[in-house]
Amino acid sequence: MSNKLLKGKKGIIFGALDEKSIAWKTAERIHEEGAEMVLTNAPVSIRMGQIENLALKTNSLLVPADATSLNDLDNLIEKSVSHFGSKIDFVLHSIGMSINLRKGRSYTDLNHEWMKKGWDVSAVSFHKLIQSLYKKDAMNSWGSIVALTYIASQRTFPNYNDMADNKAYLESVARSFGYFMGKEKNVRVNTISQSPTLTTAGMGVKGINGFFKYAEKTSPLGNATAEECADYTIMMFSDYTRKVTMQNLFHDGGFSSVGVTQEIIDAIE
Ligand SMILES: NC(=O)c1ccc[n+]([C@@H]2O[C@H](COP(=O)([O-])OP(=O)(O)OC[C@H]3O[C@@H](n4cnc5c(N)ncnc54)[C@H](O)[C@@H]3O)[C@@H](O)[C@H]2O)c1
Repeated sequence: MSNKLLKGKKGIIFGALDEKSIAWKTAERIHEEGAEMVLTNAPVSIRMGQIENLALKTNSLLVPADATSLNDLDNLIEKSVSHFGSKIDFVLHSIGMSINLRKGRSYTDLNHEWMKKGWDVSAVSFHKLIQSLYKKDAMNSWGSIVALTYIASQRTFPNYNDMADNKAYLESVARSFGYFMGKEKNVRVNTISQSPTLTTAGMGVKGINGFFKYAEKTSPLGNATAEECADYTIMMFSDYTRKVTMQNLFHDGGFSSVGVTQEIIDAIE
């Protein structure tokens, strides 16, 4: 499926680690839809992952950047603008990391240094990124910025741990900065709240397989896949969503609106 919806547009994609990554699928779709990209990830993720293959496949420039470093972000944005010879039309923030989750520390026994690190990587990085774009006036008018989030920001999912708080902060940054980016730059800022997805980050969540099945059964349309998330993001980068901003957009097969399903009642009774 390609409608060249993004023909002539230029953007930056964060977070493609390997073929399972949501950002990977999105970069592939962006390429099909006719846009040019700069791909970026943390230096360590570039060494461990396969992003170089994606850069070759999509004919994209690869610029390493730790999303917690303002210097790295400034450098990435400067290099992107000079590579494109123009300002930027779209940016995807597809970044998440919790050391507490990775090391199996429960929410009632957090290591707060790890918590701060995870907050910086997963949430503050979104503010740093938009602030750098704002100060450099690097976005084209009617540009679009999207970050990926999860419903544990708004409802309790015990195993999601400190990532739930990070996502709540991330969604708030989209609203707060979305105001200034809208008023002063004509740029929209949104978060997409995606179904559980079996990626490297997703599979780091304790009990993900059971939970994945639960969400699949609860969602009237079933879980949204990484490929479907990529399609939704394409729409958010296209000119068809120019007045959508400061929203948390659920892309979850209807999960977020379901109270209970008949199957669950039948199983309990
Ligand atoms: N997988 C799910 O179930 C799910 C559901 C909803 C939302 N999300 C969100 O989608 C986004 C992408 O995750 P994914 O599931 O594709 O997993 P993934 O593991 O493929 O992607 C996470 C990315 O974050 C990058 N990253 C980590 N630290 C970084 C840093 N300091 N600087 C720059 N990049 C850094 C990693 O290198 C990796 O590429 C995340 O925000 C995640 O929270 C995932």
